[in-house]
Amino acid sequence: MGIAVEASGLVKNYGGVQALRGCSFKVEEGEVFGLIGPNGAGKTTTLRIVGTLIKPTMGWVKVFGVDTVEGASEVRRMIGYLPEDAGAYPNLSGMEYLRFMAGFYARRSDIEAVVNEGIQISGLGERLGERIKGYSKGMTRRLLLARALMVRPRLAILDDPTAGLDIVHAHHIRVKIKEYVKRGGLTVLLSSHNMLEVEYLCDRVALIDRGIIIEEGGPEELKDRYGAENLEQVFLEATRIG
Ligand SMILES: Nc1ncnc2c1ncn2[C@@H]1O[C@H](COP(=O)(O)OP(=O)(O)OP(=O)(O)O)[C@@H](O)[C@H]1O
Ligand SMILES: [Mg+2]
Repeated sequence: MGIAVEASGLVKNYGGVQALRGCSFKVEEGEVFGLIGPNGAGKTTTLRIVGTLIKPTMGWVKVFGVDTVEGASEVRRMIGYLPEDAGAYPNLSGMEYLRFMAGFYARRSDIEAVVNEGIQISGLGERLGERIKGYSKGMTRRLLLARALMVRPRLAILDDPTAGLDIVHAHHIRVKIKEYVKRGGLTVLLSSHNMLEVEYLCDRVALIDRGIIIEEGGPEELKDRYGAENLEQVFLEATRIG
């Protein structure tokens, strides 16, 4: 297996704010890699750089060997991105939205297959006929996950996929992510505040605090290292020391 994502020495300044201060990590192909850390630690900033939405001030990222600045359009063709706080076109129905998005990414002959995949992932059934402006947060998130995964990206970047969702919607999203990873051919880089979710989904996690990675390893490995019963304890210990 190769390397899906390699980030090296990422620095990002927003005016006077140093959001990233030399952040480096590697994600192996086929794994689910979780970025966890306190509010403002730099998770979204990191994911936006990997997803070519913003450029680093210093450092670089390669996605399957392609530089995210120089090869931005090639990288975009390999990724699916679920943004942190996104809505979707309110006046379209869920179904229209999936078709619209499939039209951007798929060849004409593949559009139906991609849309059908999106329908499956969303699990929204009949409600896909309704306008998005009437959707709950959970329904919108499921639609956006469908958009991110239906094109079968090599890398899915999911920024806090279940933030603010109830148990039913959050469960649906986690199960779908797991199902798609299991099928093969998908690597996932996600951020999360939910330690149960991280334990359920992630093969490896990196703890980010104030713009740098302070710990990295498998959930079990990290628990052993800190003599902790769960990742929440690891998180609290590591961010206290770090
Ligand atoms: N567009 C921006 N302009 C100015 N500062 C920003 C901008 N985006 C992020 N920041 C700052 O950069 C730092 C990192 O923010 P970021 O959104 O990456 O954190 P995060 O780990 O995703 O936090 P959260 O867990 O709350 O989502 C914070 O101090 C934030 O205020
Ligand atoms: Mg964030």
